Amino acid sequence: MSVVYAVGVGPGDPELLTRKAERILRSADVILAPVSNPAEASVALETVREFIDISRQEIVVHQFPMTSDRSRLVPAWQEAAAIIAAHAEAGRSVAFITIGDPLFYSTFIYLLRIFREQWPQIPIEIVPGISSINAAAAQATLPLVEGDEKMIVIPATAGIEQIRAALETCETVVLLKVKPLFPAIVELLRSLVDSRSAVFVERVGSPRQKVLTSIDDIAAHTPDYLSLMIIKAV
Ligand SMILES: C[S@@+](CC[C@H](N)C(=O)[O-])C[C@H]1O[C@@H](n2cnc3c(N)ncnc32)[C@H](O)[C@@H]1O
Repeated sequence: MSVVYAVGVGPGDPELLTRKAERILRSADVILAPVSNPAEASVALETVREFIDISRQEIVVHQFPMTSDRSRLVPAWQEAAAIIAAHAEAGRSVAFITIGDPLFYSTFIYLLRIFREQWPQIPIEIVPGISSINAAAAQATLPLVEGDEKMIVIPATAGIEQIRAALETCETVVLLKVKPLFPAIVELLRSLVDSRSAVFVERVGSPRQKVLTSIDDIAAHTPDYLSLMIIKAV
C-alpha cells in the first residue's frame, strides 16, 4: 500500500512550491492533476511540470466540472478517488496536485471524505501550499491583518448581502471566486469608497498576473476565474 499525497503547489509560480512539495513530486509514481475544462491546461500541472520526469512518472489529468450540480460532481470525485486508490493499492505512490493549499477550498477535500469512508486503509498525507490569498497580499505589499484585527474569507458566490455584512464586522474581507458577482461587488465598493480600499489580484504568481488598486481600473476589467479581492478598512 502506498501513500496518497495531496500536494499544494501554491498559486502558480514554481518558485512558490515548498521543498517538501518538490521532493514528493519528483518521487511520486503517479501525479493526478485536476482540470475543469479539458480544452484548457491544468494550472496545477503547468506549475509543477519542471519537476516531473515523464519517462518514469505517470501523469493522469482528471476533469472535475466547474459546476455546483452534485449529480455531475459526485461521479467525478468518486472516479478520481477510485483511480487514485487503485494505484495506491498496487503499491504506486500518488500525488494529487492542487493550486494553493489542499485543505483550503480545494477539490481534494471531497476526495478526502471519500477516502475516509471507502478506503480508510490508504494513508493520506497533506503537503500544505501557499494559498492564493497570501501570494496576492505579497504581490500587493498589503498587510492582511495586524494586532486584534479580524479577517474573513468569503467565496463571492455567497452573495452580496453576506459581503456587505462581513464588511461591517471585519477589518479585512477577502473575496474568492469573484467573477460571477463582479459588477455587484464593484458597485458595492463604489458606495464604500471613503471607508474601504480594495485590491484586485488575478492569476497571481503567473506571467498573466494582474494587480489592480484603483476602483476605475477594477471596474473596467473583466476578471477570470482565478481572481480575488482583498478589501480593507481605510
Ligand atoms: C477553489 S478556490 C481554490 C483556492 C486554493 N486552494 C488556494 O489555496 O488559494 C479558487 C479561487 O481561489 C482564488 N485563486 C486561486 N488561485 C489564484 C491565483 N493564482 N490568483 C488569484 N486568485 C486565485 C480565486 O478566487 C479562485 O476563484
